[in-house]
Amino acid sequence: MVILMELAPDTLEWRDAYKLLVGSILPRPIAFVSTIDEDGIANAAPFSFFTAICAEPMLVCFSPMRRGRDGAKKDTLVNIEATKQFVINIVSEKMAKQMNNCAAELAPEIDEINLTGLTKEPGTMVKAPRIKESLVHLECELYQVLHFGDQPGAGSLIIGKVLNINIADDLYQNGKIDTKKLQPIGRMAGNLYTNPLGKTFEIIRPETGG
Ligand SMILES: Cc1cc2nc3c(=O)[nH]c(=O)nc-3n(C[C@H](O)[C@H](O)[C@H](O)COP(=O)(O)O)c2cc1C
Repeated sequence: MVILMELAPDTLEWRDAYKLLVGSILPRPIAFVSTIDEDGIANAAPFSFFTAICAEPMLVCFSPMRRGRDGAKKDTLVNIEATKQFVINIVSEKMAKQMNNCAAELAPEIDEINLTGLTKEPGTMVKAPRIKESLVHLECELYQVLHFGDQPGAGSLIIGKVLNINIADDLYQNGKIDTKKLQPIGRMAGNLYTNPLGKTFEIIRPETGG
């Protein structure tokens, strides 16, 4: 018999609630988000509270939390509120270390992209840069932002409308992206990552009519 443990989130410290979230909802895809500030200085940071919303319009979303130390907004949120634009760079396994290095808490005037040895390329439809090493880029304009408090552990939901998708030629076949060539990674709990291609299995969906 399974004995169920019941926990009321309101009675937990936010860090403990966070641990239960990241241990329950996984693996999570990673939005490696590049932005610029009002002075044009570039910034990049990974966010695994990230998903797609719908295809028409093409909307995606991710959630920067408030800083654990002081409840301050992260630079990514500050930049998106100021410029209304961002790029989601999809993370392939071979760039995992550089992506992780961009999660360091650095002063806003420091350009993490250059610092970690990644390469900036100009966006096609947005002023935010793309990260060349990513094989898929979603160039987004801010569609809506929702805030859920301003204390440590609180967060915001950023919804982006995709204006332009860049896909490495080699990956794009018959309107689809070749997952084997993309080699995407996902975030687990703690410092663990997974490559979902390690073990995949197919289940055919029942007929749904669309
Ligand atoms: C793989 C990975 C996923 C992350 N996901 C999130 C997330 O979903 N939300 C969040 O607030 N921080 C997340 N972080 C931490 C941010 O990347 C980190 O706070 C970063 O310094 C924010 O940078 P910024 O101030 O330039 O926006 C993640 C870090 C890593 C390495």
